[in-house]
Amino acid sequence: MDEIGVGVIGTGFMGKCHALALGAVKGRMGDVPRPLLKILCDVDEPTVRVRADEWGFARATNDWRTLIADPEVQLVSVTTPNRLHREMAIAALEAGKHVWCEKPMGLTFADAVAMTEAARKAPHLKTQVGFNYTRNPAISHARRLIAAGVIGHVHHFTGVMDEDYMADAEIPWSWRCRKAEAGTGVLGDMLVHLISIAHLLAGRIVRVTGEMQTVHASRPMPGGGTGVVDNDDSVQALVRFEGGATGVIGSSRVVWGRKAKLAWEVHGTKGTITANNEHMNDLNLFVAEGDPATRGFRTILTGPAHPPYAEFCPAPGHGLGFNDLKVIECAEFLRAIAGGPPVDYDFEAALAIERVTDAIDRSAAEQHSIVVSYTV
Ligand SMILES: NC(=O)c1ccc[n+]([C@@H]2O[C@H](COP(=O)([O-])OP(=O)(O)OC[C@H]3O[C@@H](n4cnc5c(N)ncnc54)[C@H](O)[C@@H]3O)[C@@H](O)[C@H]2O)c1
Repeated sequence: MDEIGVGVIGTGFMGKCHALALGAVKGRMGDVPRPLLKILCDVDEPTVRVRADEWGFARATNDWRTLIADPEVQLVSVTTPNRLHREMAIAALEAGKHVWCEKPMGLTFADAVAMTEAARKAPHLKTQVGFNYTRNPAISHARRLIAAGVIGHVHHFTGVMDEDYMADAEIPWSWRCRKAEAGTGVLGDMLVHLISIAHLLAGRIVRVTGEMQTVHASRPMPGGGTGVVDNDDSVQALVRFEGGATGVIGSSRVVWGRKAKLAWEVHGTKGTITANNEHMNDLNLFVAEGDPATRGFRTILTGPAHPPYAEFCPAPGHGLGFNDLKVIECAEFLRAIAGGPPVDYDFEAALAIERVTDAIDRSAAEQHSIVVSYTV
């Protein structure tokens, strides 16, 4: 496969990120089918026409069904608010298109199951959910270190994903504040990213005890008046992994001063690995060997020794950025479509994350531990 026709639905934060990645991926990575940017879709016709022109799409539409039905489109990116993911992703699969969908999969666990069932019915089509942080070469290196036994047996994982984008009570209400449009709050919006990393580094989570809190129960509406916030501003969970490791994970959108603190630690019997996305090109490694007087964490700056960093820059330590992770995610998806290795997070694998978030949500509501079911 040399080329693939692409349609992107949504032109917000993630729509632009997908469009930039699709535009850059061939030049960066080389060995992928060339995405042909066929149609861009958003609700406002004049704006989407401008964006299509800026981002290099041949056409624009305000009707996502037109995009999905287009015979020139073989891959559909779904980057709309969460409440639309299920309908759009299933319609695209039923129309015979590969689907690259943003996280979380949908509003509810039932949405994620329905999307996975649609993917199971079309095994010749590929799916991917947007867990871009896992594509960081630093995290790929951590996976290799753990697999090679450098830190021994993993017995504990702890981490947070904290930001302050809603810390100010005067920040206006948005679709993210409403269960009917977003599903859970920070649990589905941000903790999912930490879980996507935890599952790769420590194995699947099999038991959870959750706590959730809404810190600012109302916010000013953009057009005046007050809007109710009916989902979580912060969430924490005590977790157990399938290999016996334990952990504590949490996320908040109201922690002043934190901008993208996706920070985690993996504790092993011989060492520790830590990382913090606010310094996304660093990985910190402690190995319990050598003279105790000279032991300490060392910071590994990512570089060409950490694939696929070299596709972006030949110089170590110069650093990748957030949008580069989407290019890597895009390349892995295109390779899978072209018959290469499967992606880490197709709908089936992403459903495991939804199982955990659903269990945390229920655990917090019912005030007891919940065993995560992997049988549906
Ligand atoms: N992977 C990540 O790091 C990451 C980061 C941010 C957001 N997200 C996810 O991406 C999705 C979108 O978030 P965002 O921040 O880009 O939101 P956004 O509000 O910036 O953009 C959403 C876009 O969808 C458009 N839209 C709404 N209804 C539509 C319809 N019926 N047809 C076509 N377009 C429609 C909106 O007009 C808007 O342009 C969410 O699911 C979110 O959780 C992922």
